[in-house]
Amino acid sequence: MLDLKDKKILLTGDRPSGKLHLGHYVGSLKNRVKFQENKNYQQFVFLADLQALTDHAKDPQKIINSVTEVTLDYLSVGLDPSKTVLFIQSQIPELCELNMYFLNLVTISRLQRNPTVKEELKHKSFGESIPAGFLTYPVSQAADITAFKANYVPVGEDQLPLIEQTREIVRSFNNIYGKTLIEPEALLSENDVCKRLPGIDGKNKMSKTLGNAIYISDEPDVIKSKVMSMFTDPDHIKISDPGKIENNAVFIYLDAFCQDQEKLLELKEHYQRGGLGDIKVKQYLNEILQEELRPIRERRKELEKNKDYLYEVLKKGSEIARSVASKTLFEVKDAMGLNYNK
Ligand code: TRP
Repeated sequence: MLDLKDKKILLTGDRPSGKLHLGHYVGSLKNRVKFQENKNYQQFVFLADLQALTDHAKDPQKIINSVTEVTLDYLSVGLDPSKTVLFIQSQIPELCELNMYFLNLVTISRLQRNPTVKEELKHKSFGESIPAGFLTYPVSQAADITAFKANYVPVGEDQLPLIEQTREIVRSFNNIYGKTLIEPEALLSENDVCKRLPGIDGKNKMSKTLGNAIYISDEPDVIKSKVMSMFTDPDHIKISDPGKIENNAVFIYLDAFCQDQEKLLELKEHYQRGGLGDIKVKQYLNEILQEELRPIRERRKELEKNKDYLYEVLKKGSEIARSVASKTLFEVKDAMGLNYNK
């Protein structure tokens, strides 16, 4: 059993619907690798397969395959199962039971007003046929968070309305049944560039659906051709022209990945002055990305050979997670008076 005494709980999850990309890497994975070293925290990271099914009900295989891919991404970037509890949402039935109690504390109109859900609905082709599970996933997310008594939830900005929804549910529960649950706080990435890394099109946030992503597991030649096709300053036509670094994806990536601040400053000044071609800057970015991603890709290839290990990690993590969630569920039912045989 995990000793959680005197520890703050960090919890976060990802919908497994494809491999993870550089937006995930700089926006959250790197922070998670850092957090797991801090002895004041216990971190839980999970694959939100139930949530992924809320808009992929007819394509479960995609979700199942992605559970493996995302776990490979997790382990290859350095999440360590002896420090971070890694688990699969669907393996914790207690979450569904909590969800059931929470559903009564939320109105349909409140769910329809959730900005994140509204935004997602715009891009999906549900029409009038919105699955009830999709509309109510913020409630299930509240169950994920509260089951582990999470104090902090490291997330991207798009998730803030979901954390707010969780906080409302917690307040409502604690008001009605007595103080049982913890109100979580969202933890945003400190670095602005990392919060919202654009895709290689330079226009939109990096995303699988928009086809503008560089994946953590991309092969070297794929990384190179993606970098070479990146959006820069459209007015920087001749090498001698002065170039703009604002909204220039190549420089935004350099801000996110380049460690050599002095060299980066020099490049920026040269580019703005004129005389520095896009190809040179892209080559430099390519070198940096190749160096960062090579060891990760190599670790991933090793891990791919040993799927048994992967499933063992997830099974152990899920057992630990389950023991924590069932303790909370017991307290929840106690507060509600539902432990009839106690
Ligand atoms: N909504 C998150 C995503 O889209 C996944 C998720 C599910 C989550 N439950 C969570 C994130 C709990 C943080 C905490 O990727």
